[in-house]
Amino acid sequence: MTLAPSTGSAVDQGSVDIAFGGVGEPGTRLLAGPEPGSGAESLIAHQARLGAWPDFEADRRALLDVLDLSGLRGRGGGSFPAAAKMAAAAGRGRPLLVVNASESEPASAKDATLVGLRPHLVLDGARILARAAGAEEVSVVLHRGNRPGLRALSHALSERARAGLDDPEMTVTLGPDRYVSGEASAVVSLLEGGEAKPRFTRRRPAALYGVHGRPTLIYNAETTAHAGLLARFGAQWFRRAGTAERPGSTLVTLAGAAARPGRVLEVMAPVSMGLLLGAAGLDQPPAALLVGGYAGAWLDGATTWDLPFSHEALGHAGASIGCGLLGILPPGACGLGETARLVTYLAGESAGQCGPCVFGLAELAAIFEALALGQASRADLRRLHRRALGIEGRGACRHPDGVVGLIQSALRVFAPDVRRHLKGRSCGATGGPIFPVPPTTGGWR
Ligand SMILES: Cc1cc2nc3c(=O)[nH]c(=O)nc-3n(C[C@H](O)[C@H](O)[C@H](O)COP(=O)(O)O)c2cc1C
Ligand code: SF4
Repeated sequence: MTLAPSTGSAVDQGSVDIAFGGVGEPGTRLLAGPEPGSGAESLIAHQARLGAWPDFEADRRALLDVLDLSGLRGRGGGSFPAAAKMAAAAGRGRPLLVVNASESEPASAKDATLVGLRPHLVLDGARILARAAGAEEVSVVLHRGNRPGLRALSHALSERARAGLDDPEMTVTLGPDRYVSGEASAVVSLLEGGEAKPRFTRRRPAALYGVHGRPTLIYNAETTAHAGLLARFGAQWFRRAGTAERPGSTLVTLAGAAARPGRVLEVMAPVSMGLLLGAAGLDQPPAALLVGGYAGAWLDGATTWDLPFSHEALGHAGASIGCGLLGILPPGACGLGETARLVTYLAGESAGQCGPCVFGLAELAAIFEALALGQASRADLRRLHRRALGIEGRGACRHPDGVVGLIQSALRVFAPDVRRHLKGRSCGATGGPIFPVPPTTGGWR
C-alpha cells in the first residue's frame, strides 16, 4: 500500500530503524502524525496519512487471522493475548466491544495521549476489533476527569458520522476518577448503569459473561489503536517492532524525576533502559525505577540501566511493563517514603467490598508509614510480611495483589534503607514528593 502525502510524519512501514520516539516523531507508529501542539488529528488528515481500509475489512476470518498472527498482547497491564480473548467470546451470542481508556494510573498518560491526539486511530481499531468479533456496538470508557479526551472523542465521532463511515454504533461512557474503576469487571458494572466497582469475576470473565450477560470484549485504548494499524499494514509489519514474546511497539510514560513528567514515548525496539531514560534527561542511573504503574514494582536503578526495555528482560528482573509507566526516583529521595505515600493512596482506593482489601491494605499502609518515619520495629516488619502474604489473591479483583507486589519490591530494592529506618535513623532524604497522588474523593458512578 502506498501512503498519500501527509501533514505530519507517516507511519513507518519499513524496518524499525529508531529505538523510540515521541508524538509526531519519525519512525513511530501510534504516535506518528502531527506534532502534539496541533491537537486532535482530524478525520481528513488521519485518512490522508494512513490511506484506505484494507480490502479484507469485511472478511471476519481474515481479520481474526491477522490479529492472531500479529501476536498482539493487551496494553492495559496484563499482556493478555488479544486474539485469545476474542476466541473465548466466539459463538456466545451478541458481543459488545469496549475500549478501556480509563487510564486509572495517576502518572500514566499514554491512553489520554492516544484518545486526545489520535482519536481516529483508536476508533479505527475499535471498528476493526468489533468487525472481527461480530459486534455491532462499541463503548469507549474514560474517566470523567479526562475532559480533553472527551472533547476529542466527541468531535471525532461527529466527524465520522458526517463523513458517513460505516462504523458500528459507538458511544462514550464516563466513569469515576477512581483507581479500580478501570478494572474490567468495574467497567462492566459501570456499563450496566451500576457503580464502577470490581466484582468477583475469577470464574466469570467479561469475555464470557459481561454487560447484561453478553460476551464483552474489553480492550485497552492502546491495544485498540494497534488493531487500527494492524488491519492496514499486516501481521508481519507489526512484528518488526517489539520482541518475539510481545510483538509490536509499546507506549511508555515517563514519570517522577523526568525532565518532562508525563511525556509519552513509543518504544519500537528493545532499547536499553539507560538510553530510554536519556529521553527523560538522565545521564546516569537513578536511585530506583518504578516500573509498570503504582501497583508495579521497584527496580534498582544501577542494575536496570543496561537492561533492555522488553517484556522478557523486565520479567526476569521481577517487574512487568504493566501500563508502561517508568517512574524515576532521583538520588537522595526516600524510596520508602514514596512507597508509603503510594500504598496509602492505593489503600484509600479500595472499593470497600472485600475484607482482606479494606482492612488488610489499611494495615499495610499504616505499618509502611511507620517504617518510612523510622518508627517501626522488627516485629512490625515481620507483621508487614505476614499480612502481605495473607492478603495476596484474596480480593475480588487484583487490586490488593498489586499493592502487595509494590511493597515486596520496595522491601527488596530499598533493603539498606529498611535497616537504617528500623534503627530509627533518618535516611537524610531531601526534596518533596516525587510521584503525583490524587486525593481519594468522589463516588463510584
Ligand atoms: C485495579 C485495576 C485497575 C485497572 N485499570 C485499568 C485501566 O485504567 N485501563 C485499562 O485499560 N486496564 C485497566 N486494568 C486492566 C483491565 O482489568 C483489563 O485487563 C484491560 O482493560 C484489558 O485490556 P487489554 O487486554 O487490552 O490489556 C486494571 C486492572 C486492575 C486490577
Ligand atoms: S479487592 Fe479491593 S478493590 Fe477489588 S473488589 Fe475487593 S474491595 Fe474492591
